[in-house]
Amino acid sequence: MKTTADFLNMKKDGEKVVMLTAYDYPTAKFAEDSGVDVILVGDSLGMVVLGYDSTVPVTVNDMIHHGKAVRRGAKDTFVVVDMPFGSYHGSYDRTLQDAVRIFQETGANALKLEGSGEVIHVIGMLTDTGIPVVAHLGLLPQHAGVLGGYKVQGKTAEAAEQLISDALAAERAGACMVVVECVPYQLAKKVSEALTIPVIGIGAGAETDGQVLVFHDTVQFGNHHIPKFVKKFSDAGRTIHDGLTAYVEEVKNGSFPAEQHRFTMKEEELVTLYG
Ligand code: KIV
Ligand code: NA
Repeated sequence: MKTTADFLNMKKDGEKVVMLTAYDYPTAKFAEDSGVDVILVGDSLGMVVLGYDSTVPVTVNDMIHHGKAVRRGAKDTFVVVDMPFGSYHGSYDRTLQDAVRIFQETGANALKLEGSGEVIHVIGMLTDTGIPVVAHLGLLPQHAGVLGGYKVQGKTAEAAEQLISDALAAERAGACMVVVECVPYQLAKKVSEALTIPVIGIGAGAETDGQVLVFHDTVQFGNHHIPKFVKKFSDAGRTIHDGLTAYVEEVKNGSFPAEQHRFTMKEEELVTLYG
């Protein structure tokens, strides 16, 4: 299991940090077996596996439910769990209560929080408690309503400067990593150079300290919208579709189940049963 210290060293050595989301036991196993450095139980699960049209409906209990399954499937990989919408903007006590619940009950190695401003204080407070925190800047899916949709962020010099200063503030507050989502690659490069902690990009070009993608996007599993910045590395959706249509067809035409798929009762037992 890698640690936050290992991620700092990877950045120093120029080794990329690979992060991938997972939401359940089998996807976590796939992620761990493929050698990813970090598994993110993202609140993107709301869209990808629960069928909501944003991350807003996702609850603390949802994150705990999925986080526990991922932990069981990836015992040796650093697991980060997202704090969901609304769970870290209330009072200090309520934020701490939710954070501690998610951290303790899932056995995660870190929590991830979107945004800056007040959230910088929350990063400091959780880090003081002993919970490693990953910051998330740029496009903030939990703020899509305020941002006016899922748009590229930090395109103006002013917005870019703000993002760099937010990233530095997150690092000073104790964040162990920063995710930057959907920003121009030139800005992502600047942020990566400005920080000591690893900067993990998504839709942010190649000049960051690492990358993160959504499991289902990466392997084309499911029928949700796949953003432009994703490379489709395999086509699991097609494989699954072909397998399932073959299943339906073979049951309908009687070719499944075949002899090797059935169980047999001994002849003498049959005689006793039916005479
Ligand atoms: O929820 C998620 O999957 C994320 C990544 C896109 C960074 O936050
Ligand atoms: Na997220």
